[in-house]
Amino acid sequence: MLILAPMQGLTELLFRKAFQRCYPGAFDCAISPFLSITHGNLKDATIKVEDVLPEANEGSMPVIPQLLGHEAEGFVELANRLNELGYSEVNWNMGCPMRRVAAKHRGSGILPYPDEVRSILDSVVPRLKVALSVKVRLGYYSIDEIDAIIPILNDYPLASVTVHPRTGKQMYSGQVFLEKFAQILPQIKHNVVYNGDICTPYDYRRIRTLFPEVKDVMIGRGALYNPLLPMQIRAESPDDFNDAELSSQMQMTSAQVFIVSLVNDILQMEVSNQAKIRKIKEYWCLLSKALPGSEERKRKVLHASDLDAILRLIEDMAK
Ligand SMILES: Cc1cc2nc3c(=O)[nH]c(=O)nc-3n(C[C@H](O)[C@H](O)[C@H](O)COP(=O)(O)O)c2cc1C
Repeated sequence: MLILAPMQGLTELLFRKAFQRCYPGAFDCAISPFLSITHGNLKDATIKVEDVLPEANEGSMPVIPQLLGHEAEGFVELANRLNELGYSEVNWNMGCPMRRVAAKHRGSGILPYPDEVRSILDSVVPRLKVALSVKVRLGYYSIDEIDAIIPILNDYPLASVTVHPRTGKQMYSGQVFLEKFAQILPQIKHNVVYNGDICTPYDYRRIRTLFPEVKDVMIGRGALYNPLLPMQIRAESPDDFNDAELSSQMQMTSAQVFIVSLVNDILQMEVSNQAKIRKIKEYWCLLSKALPGSEERKRKVLHASDLDAILRLIEDMAK
């Protein structure tokens, strides 16, 4: 399986829909950017909860909502509300590295505290009406913190364990610790999903070759640097994805068309022009890497402050 990674502010509904429209079936599913369990009440029409409302997700790829937090009551309440909406699985975020999140023992900040992990799972799992999967890093401070977490995860019926083999302290840079990943892989009794730095079909092949037992891979930034990536991976690995019908369904939409399609969706949003400009620029920073043309020309979009000028620049570059 190829899974689109949760990326707050990036792989939200708008992106997932545009992606599915341009590359149907390229990703098997997505994990949503996290919903903080302190947002609790699904009736609050916050943008975050709208991101996973089923009717809004029609035409998008299948999505598994991700929850961030460590308050058992809030977790159970939100997870079971999501079940009422039709979801059969939620994912628990134990990977977020942001300092203000981690400082409260949320995200990867809980990894140095195995007793807390056990106490939350003890309290939450028996009351959940949905399956639970988790997404972890190797630790917050150290890659060895995971050693005390694995036996705990093994004690509960989890749908999968996604491992991003970095520490929280590393944020998103520095090496991925593949040796440590290799060491812990046989210890995890659940289905393991690999995540981290898959930016080319070669990266994918390398991980599948190093770890043949890992069948499922999650891709984040790689899909923004090059939206064709999941299709390139499928085309290069027919043995992994032997669904001929699916590959024929997938149109070879170019990255240019995808960017223009996404920008058009942003223009339809009911927000101010300033908010649209901010959103377009956030995506442009990553997606423009897929376009031909000099960096200097690409930077002009970031320096422009007028929406029409930005659209003209993007259209010119996407021709
Ligand atoms: C801007 C940004 C936002 C992210 N938001 C989330 C999130 O909401 N939940 C989560 O589990 N991981 C989040 N991540 C981490 C990614 O899901 C992924 O684990 C990480 O980027 C490594 O994978 P990659 O190298 O394929 O991008 C985020 C990463 C970035 C860069």
